[in-house]
Amino acid sequence: MSPVVSVKRLRKYFKVYKKEPGLLGSVKSLFSRDYSEIQAVNDISFEIQKGEFVGFIGPNGAGKTTTLKCLSGLLYPTSGEVGVLGHTPWHRERSFLKKISLVMGQKNQLWWDLPAYDSFLLNKEIYEVDEQDFKNKIDELIDLLSLGRVVNIPVRKLSLGQRMKCELVSALLHAPSVVFLDEPTIGLDVVMQRRLRIFFKEYNQKFGTTVILTSHNMDDVKELCKRVIIVDGGHIMYDGKISDLIREHVKYKTISFVVSKKIDRADLEKIGQVVSLNDTGGVIHVDRNDVANASAKLLKAFPVEDLDIAEMSLEGVIRQIFTNE
Ligand SMILES: Nc1ncnc2c1ncn2[C@@H]1O[C@H](COP(=O)(O)OP(=O)(O)OP(=O)(O)O)[C@@H](O)[C@H]1O
Ligand SMILES: [Mg+2]
Repeated sequence: MSPVVSVKRLRKYFKVYKKEPGLLGSVKSLFSRDYSEIQAVNDISFEIQKGEFVGFIGPNGAGKTTTLKCLSGLLYPTSGEVGVLGHTPWHRERSFLKKISLVMGQKNQLWWDLPAYDSFLLNKEIYEVDEQDFKNKIDELIDLLSLGRVVNIPVRKLSLGQRMKCELVSALLHAPSVVFLDEPTIGLDVVMQRRLRIFFKEYNQKFGTTVILTSHNMDDVKELCKRVIIVDGGHIMYDGKISDLIREHVKYKTISFVVSKKIDRADLEKIGQVVSLNDTGGVIHVDRNDVANASAKLLKAFPVEDLDIAEMSLEGVIRQIFTNE
């Protein structure tokens, strides 16, 4: 099966002109302009299959939004090839726009002074959604997002979470088969983040929609994406399963335990690398392939009352990668 998204050697460079500060700088810039180039996306390639939910992560300025803009046709690339559902995004054919959607958590795409429902009606016309399909889809989305009458209140009066849900209805009304989500949970409280995650998961499973998600919230990525593409400085640093990423980068697991009486540090060091130890318990790192053995030794050697084995969190792994810890 051919991929739904195919990106080959994509580059997007921005030319920005440098101006010295102050009035003198402004005058000088009238006569000579000094440009510099920002390599926002620098030679990236990947493919995404139908129905995949891929996390696109990386630090601020890594090139995530720029890539999504190229994929949805908002930006013309400097070079490279992109195919989304067989279309070249920046040609912006109607038939292409009807099949995709870009949701930006940082940007409001609804009419501010009107109830969200009015914006939905406008989108219905723009995307030429059939009357009955519109009704069905609206009911379905309002129900999935438990929106109720919120859609009849002017958008400016809504809370951030309510507005985000309306943004989603608006973006999904035309039943796009590829959705780009750029930080959709930014600024939302933990309860709302969770609700949206459940919604995205259900939506992806129910409709087989292909989704690319960027988020700085690793809970979003961990719960929704099997595969992650990690970018930094416009380059891809990793593309693969989250589980493999953790396995490749973290060679140890963490065992935390509670003991009924004080134990000797030297004895504990024979089992694993001691991270902390006090009178009531401690934490050690052990080789990930030796966890069962180490736990057994621990239980045998000490009066252990409680024991917990943990994998480093995705957040921890990412931090480790970007700080070269
Ligand atoms: N229109 C533009 N003109 C000039 N430079 C730009 C433009 N858009 C983005 N950039 C630069 O390109 C780089 C990548 O930006 P981009 O918005 O893609 O990053 P990002 O990975 O989405 O970051 P964040 O996590 O902060 O959203 C940054 O250095 C940014 O300043
Ligand atoms: Mg961004």
